[in-house]
Amino acid sequence: MDILEAIQQRRSTRGFLDRPVDRNVVERLLSLATQAPSAINLQPWEIVVVSGEERKRLSRVLVKRMRERNISCGPGAKRPLAEHFVGRQRALLQCMLPNLPAGRPFEEFINEGSCNFYGAPTALILALDQVFSSARLTDIGVVVGYLALAAHAMGLGTCPIGLITAFEEDIREELGLPEEKQIVIGIALGYPDPQSAVNRSRSGRAPLEEVVKWRE
Ligand SMILES: Cc1cc2nc3c(=O)[nH]c(=O)nc-3n(C[C@H](O)[C@H](O)[C@H](O)COP(=O)(O)O)c2cc1C
Repeated sequence: MDILEAIQQRRSTRGFLDRPVDRNVVERLLSLATQAPSAINLQPWEIVVVSGEERKRLSRVLVKRMRERNISCGPGAKRPLAEHFVGRQRALLQCMLPNLPAGRPFEEFINEGSCNFYGAPTALILALDQVFSSARLTDIGVVVGYLALAAHAMGLGTCPIGLITAFEEDIREELGLPEEKQIVIGIALGYPDPQSAVNRSRSGRAPLEEVVKWRE
């Protein structure tokens, strides 16, 4: 698949087939994703692949914690958001709502779904050693972009899961990661379910005039 086509087509997958992703496929995907550029070629990303029963076990812990602590997906903003950001949030809700399982409130679908990696057979947990400053989070963002596009080109679906950072300590404990590893993001990975209505949601993008300034 052409890279430009992959960029145009890719959207987050929130409905997965109950079909495992073979280890050699995950390895190929990760070897492509880690071709991403990074500052000084440090490649600071650390990736834990959690599959099958282990993924389900991790999700049970996350769902339990999410309910106990009443944690919900949010924009992570320090102040109230400007109207155009609120509008983009609203637009996402409106594009997904008609495709949600009947009677399932949006927040519940997102919060439970995220902790459950939307039923994907594999979850990737991306960590950054705290020896690095927050500047290196950019490198993790780049590898996530590469990974999502490469997965799409390979017929796989992904959904980045930022919500899991709320359960950093639990994840470290479950995966046996030392305290100095910062959990940056999770990624649900699997084969998209073609019957899943939610996968038909296509989020829009702001027109370029809203996000680009030209100085010539
Ligand atoms: C850093 C980051 C964190 C995200 N966290 C979540 C999440 O916790 N749960 C979820 O359902 N989607 C999550 N997403 C997916 C976004 O909602 C999605 O990328 C956005 O709505 C644009 O839609 P698209 O990916 O289909 O193009 C996240 C995406 C990014 C880049």
